[in-house]
Amino acid sequence: MKVDTLLGLQWGDEGKGKVVDVLTPEYDIVARFQGGPNAGHTLEFEGQKYVLRSIPSGIFQGGKINIIGNGVVLDPALFKVEVEALEASGHDLTQRLYISKKAHLILPTHRLLDAAYEAQKGSDKIGTTGKGIGPAYTDKISRNGLRIGDIDHNFEAKYRAAIARHETILQQMNYPYDLSAVEQEWMAGLETLKRFRRIDSDHFINKALQAGQKILAEGAQGTMLDIDFGSYPFVTSSNTVCAGACTGLGVAPAKIGEVYGIFKAYCTRVGSGPFPTELLDETGQKMRDLGNEYGSVTGRPRRCGWIDLVALRYAIMVDGVTQLIMMKSDVLDSFDTIKACVAYQIDGKETEDFPFEIGENLRPVYVELPGWQTDMTKMQSENEFPEEFNAYLSFLEETLGVQIRIVSVGPDREQTIILNDN
Ligand code: GDP
Ligand code: IMO
Ligand code: MG
Repeated sequence: MKVDTLLGLQWGDEGKGKVVDVLTPEYDIVARFQGGPNAGHTLEFEGQKYVLRSIPSGIFQGGKINIIGNGVVLDPALFKVEVEALEASGHDLTQRLYISKKAHLILPTHRLLDAAYEAQKGSDKIGTTGKGIGPAYTDKISRNGLRIGDIDHNFEAKYRAAIARHETILQQMNYPYDLSAVEQEWMAGLETLKRFRRIDSDHFINKALQAGQKILAEGAQGTMLDIDFGSYPFVTSSNTVCAGACTGLGVAPAKIGEVYGIFKAYCTRVGSGPFPTELLDETGQKMRDLGNEYGSVTGRPRRCGWIDLVALRYAIMVDGVTQLIMMKSDVLDSFDTIKACVAYQIDGKETEDFPFEIGENLRPVYVELPGWQTDMTKMQSENEFPEEFNAYLSFLEETLGVQIRIVSVGPDREQTIILNDN
């Protein structure tokens, strides 16, 4: 068996959580492989709405194992909040949520360092989610990190040494902080975390594959936020691309199966950084209002714009996407014209390749397509699709060179249409 992966192709918030939940019945195991509580994955079903940050989105489909993989960074304090919210709504997790011993811990001082570095950058700030992601991955790469497996091995001494090191940096930066309150929450979180099975997830996953089990790897963030391939430095600190599933789970490249690439029918971004097709006018505001484009973690308004096929093609290339999933089509239901960026003009020269840097000298080149102006939110099958919507799908498939297999027409689990092979 192989590991299928589901990856965001834009700047995050494409709707990964919803689709993972929809696909989970086809799988035995769902695993997160990178990122941490900077993610906010929203699921809606049976009139309830849930936002998951560190827990995989396969948790609501009965009887499936969910794994927090080695590539993830985990904050016990936020994990506790998430676990308690799910348990309060009647979902017992302890039997089906396992955590990799090799996943790294986000310490309370990582969050403080995140804030301190952002403050130091001033107007050049990344606009991080403030969850300590960058500092936690920095410690991992500089070989100073603490892992879940360390909880059982001389933890107190390792923890104190790391905190002392971080406090020195905070003091050198003259950053005012109060550790005691966050530390208390963090320690309480650690107790919650200890209730869960901590596993050698690399062995577990490979044995499951050998035994014929089906695994879905759930990406967080999106390809344009990848540390290597995203719009650096305005990116997150992990590999969000398909290869991240190999390193974040311990799965060999040859064991990767389908690569589901998920995108919105338009485009959004939270935080700072270039966004070639951003709309700062009433059209962008209309997308924000209709799409309820406010961050599920921070509540920040998301920046909105037309779909960017230059960036999407690039993401498809580095991820090796085999099937596309288009989300939030319904948000464009009332638009009379839809634009799609097919190339960039840089200093007057047209290119279809995503460039090293996106600056003031870049202009998106658009094609315009007629809108479908039909409420699609109650549609059940592709037979009901308006002609203009089919034309939009065909145009995207042709430009991107990959088939669209799923179309989402609303936030609910039920508002998902699987397309037939054609
Ligand atoms: P994720 O981080 O990729 O899981 O995405 P988020 O949950 O952060 O953001 C996607 C938002 O869009 C959530 O509020 C979802 O409930 C919502 N959503 C998902 N699919 C659709 C859709 O097809 N139509 C609409 N209108 N909303 C959707
Ligand atoms: P999901 O999984 C959208 C963005 C932040 C910021 C940059 C770095 O819900 O799609 P970080 O806290 O990671 O150091 O922030 O990345 N960012 C996201 N944007 N969706 C996400 O996750 C994001 N996770 C991080 O806004 O610009
Ligand atoms: Mg999100």
